[in-house]
Amino acid sequence: MSANEEVLAPVPAWWTDAVVYQIYPRSFADSNADGIGDLGGIRARLDHLEQLGVDVVWLSPIYTSPQADNGYDISDYQGIDPLFGTLEEFDLLLAEMHGRGIKLVMDLVVNHTSDEHAWFVEASSGKDSPKRDWYVWRDGIDRGEGQPTEPNLWRSAFSGPAWSHAPADGTDEYYLHLFAAKQPDLNWENPEVRHAVYDMMNWWLDRGVDGFRMDVINHIAKIQDDLTGDSPGFRMGPQIHDYLHEMNLSVFAGRDAELITVGEMPGVTVDDARLFTGVDRLELDMVFQFEHVGLDHGPASKFDNVPLDLRDLKRSLSRWQTGLADQGWNSLYLGNHDQPRSLSRFGDDGEATDGRLRYESATLLATILHLHRGTPYVYQGDEIGMTNAGFTRIDQYQDIETLNWFAEERALGRDEAELLEALRFRSRDNARTPVQWSAGSQAGFTEGTPWLEVNPNHDVINVESDRALGSRSIFEFYRRLIALRHESPLVALGEFALLEPDDPTLYAFTRSGDSGRLLVAGNFSGSDIEAPILVEGPWSAGSRLLGNYEGDAPAAVLRPWEVRVILA
Ligand code: NOJ
Repeated sequence: MSANEEVLAPVPAWWTDAVVYQIYPRSFADSNADGIGDLGGIRARLDHLEQLGVDVVWLSPIYTSPQADNGYDISDYQGIDPLFGTLEEFDLLLAEMHGRGIKLVMDLVVNHTSDEHAWFVEASSGKDSPKRDWYVWRDGIDRGEGQPTEPNLWRSAFSGPAWSHAPADGTDEYYLHLFAAKQPDLNWENPEVRHAVYDMMNWWLDRGVDGFRMDVINHIAKIQDDLTGDSPGFRMGPQIHDYLHEMNLSVFAGRDAELITVGEMPGVTVDDARLFTGVDRLELDMVFQFEHVGLDHGPASKFDNVPLDLRDLKRSLSRWQTGLADQGWNSLYLGNHDQPRSLSRFGDDGEATDGRLRYESATLLATILHLHRGTPYVYQGDEIGMTNAGFTRIDQYQDIETLNWFAEERALGRDEAELLEALRFRSRDNARTPVQWSAGSQAGFTEGTPWLEVNPNHDVINVESDRALGSRSIFEFYRRLIALRHESPLVALGEFALLEPDDPTLYAFTRSGDSGRLLVAGNFSGSDIEAPILVEGPWSAGSRLLGNYEGDAPAAVLRPWEVRVILA
């Protein structure tokens, strides 16, 4: 490289060595004993985040909301729901986070609003409403049933048709809601809608927030031709790149270097992601893709649970690594508020094994994730190895998706026990039980009655006990991984290469760059495995950078859920 080229080489964006922590506010920490987590609870726990070393917090929605979908149904984008606090308290939280060097990313939910948002209340007042066209309305279709039925056969993600009547409007038209009936979809074809959203986003950025996580943002562009047909054109319409580019120019321009933007995009492909996140295209910094979290879904639905083959996971993540190596950027996640707990899903959460390998398996998963190339997202509670809820009765669940699915399947005559078993793996409430801060009453989450039961295993799994474990603290291990990303350009930017793609239990890859090479090798099983790679080539003389076992093992053997990171 010539001196001139060196000067011109682009400086990597700050988020290439950053780690994001997701807070699901209802379940994080409650400060006023109403059983629901709130801003006061977050403020009281900022030491936890600072000690962990995360750079950014993504806050799931705290806006004014009827809470039909726990805040993903917003009735005022510029208000804070009283459940969580006030705008003044939000400003305090933001200032305190900034004071600790932590950025704050807001959830942006603009595919849909609440049906209680003033825009929808106005739009559904009648066909002549000036805001009628802010939402998506269609006439029903006569399918020979004597009266018109839904404009097409799209289903809501939360069961039932994706179309409903708005009783107040006095018409026979249907409005579109890809999620609950209380979440009507906005019509992004209308420029007034788009600019109202951009104004709101600018208002938050002017207030000091540092970016947005954009809820199902590839759904904002529908394929209009399909609205009365039946093919799944409810997302990735041809205008999607125009909308995001327009948003970029209208909101991020001039301040984008400081921000972080991540678009949640079910169904997105690697090729799409290259376009969404290519730097010169001025759309988004990164996307949340769904390929790897769909590998254990059977053909019937996400509740149809099939065993995961590690080879599929490796191949999938590796394709994303390679596909976004020269253009775009990956986000890295194994769990969030919509997914089961990653430890219960991909590791050994200890339920059947007395917790013997919970530490090893939690730290292995963390290492594999954090040492890929991309920006890692830690979901609250993963840093102490929290596990699925273990609910056995339907009345323990609160999630709208869970409850609607259960009711619909029961109505079809399916066996209750079978449905409950599926929910034990897949319900979103598995990841939404309150954060376990201590072994005390309600896990130290609240002095009241929690909105969702705390996991009874909080007597063993909680922040206080974990942090007292010293060398076997999962939190401590995360802290080291996060610090490693900050310190090591190899971890942040090194080139990724998958090794042993056909091995069913060994997950091994390298990261290479100017400062050397890293080997990451992990055993996804509860038995010893041979890993000859550890003693091959440069690795035999390499130095151990990180691992989750103390003491020596035969050099080419990985013990149950062991992970080793070697620098050569
Ligand atoms: C994705 C969010 O993560 C999920 O929690 C929500 O239910 C849907 N989008 C609808 O907003």
